[in-house]
Amino acid sequence: MPEDHFGEGVAERYDESSADMFDPDVVGPVVDFLAQLAGDGAALELGVGTGRIALPLSERGVRVHGIDLSEAMVAQLREKPGGERIEVAIGDFATTLVDGTFSLAYLVFNTINNLTSQDAQVACFENVAAHLQPGGCFVIEVGVPGLRTLPPGERHQVFSFGADHIGIDEYGPVNQGLVSHHLRPAGDQWRVRSIPFRYVWPAELDLMARLAGMRPRERWSGWKGEPFTSESTKHVSVWEKV
Ligand SMILES: C[S@@+](CC[C@H](N)C(=O)[O-])C[C@H]1O[C@@H](n2cnc3c(N)ncnc32)[C@H](O)[C@@H]1O
Repeated sequence: MPEDHFGEGVAERYDESSADMFDPDVVGPVVDFLAQLAGDGAALELGVGTGRIALPLSERGVRVHGIDLSEAMVAQLREKPGGERIEVAIGDFATTLVDGTFSLAYLVFNTINNLTSQDAQVACFENVAAHLQPGGCFVIEVGVPGLRTLPPGERHQVFSFGADHIGIDEYGPVNQGLVSHHLRPAGDQWRVRSIPFRYVWPAELDLMARLAGMRPRERWSGWKGEPFTSESTKHVSVWEKV
């Protein structure tokens, strides 16, 4: 089982520390997009967390199941209104099987990068394919690796700088490793939390999809159908099971 980086201390503060991602202007377009793809079928969220997307999607009438490694994150979901409607399996979303077939599986907020090896990311696509009905869709929201903006020889990139939070990404190009360091004030010191990721290219994801029996269907730079261009810093990609 992979290491759980979302234990109790993190889970308790998750919604507050990601408050901008819970803004209805952020969540609304995600839910519109996913509800339309789910249609009359059920949806599976990999890394369901505290239910940021699963809960409003379920309010739209979509039956949502989740998989998550962190009991603490799921405990937060359970405490929220409607939390009892989301069936959650505790386990690694690269390998955990749940009952049923789905018209939609989705993995948002860069969470594919939480799988820190190519093998694990490939296994995740295979696991999704095993849960999708033919024609069912897999959606990933993830950043485009920021290597292009790193000066030669530089491995660190500041992605947030404020009095309450400093965020630094540390790139390790040999294995497509990325460690995100989060520094937050704690009394007269800074508390540091470092999380390992594996960054992954859009074309590499297309190949993983193909290996798992899925084909590319759409790629946007946001949830409102914004075009994906060479300047895009993130993408929302959809593959469908052949
Ligand atoms: C950034 S949070 C996203 C939560 C939620 N999807 C959201 O958008 O707010 C990542 C979640 O993925 C879970 N996670 C990370 N790696 C995982 C793995 N290999 N298997 C299952 N869950 C995992 C974490 O426990 C956490 O709840």
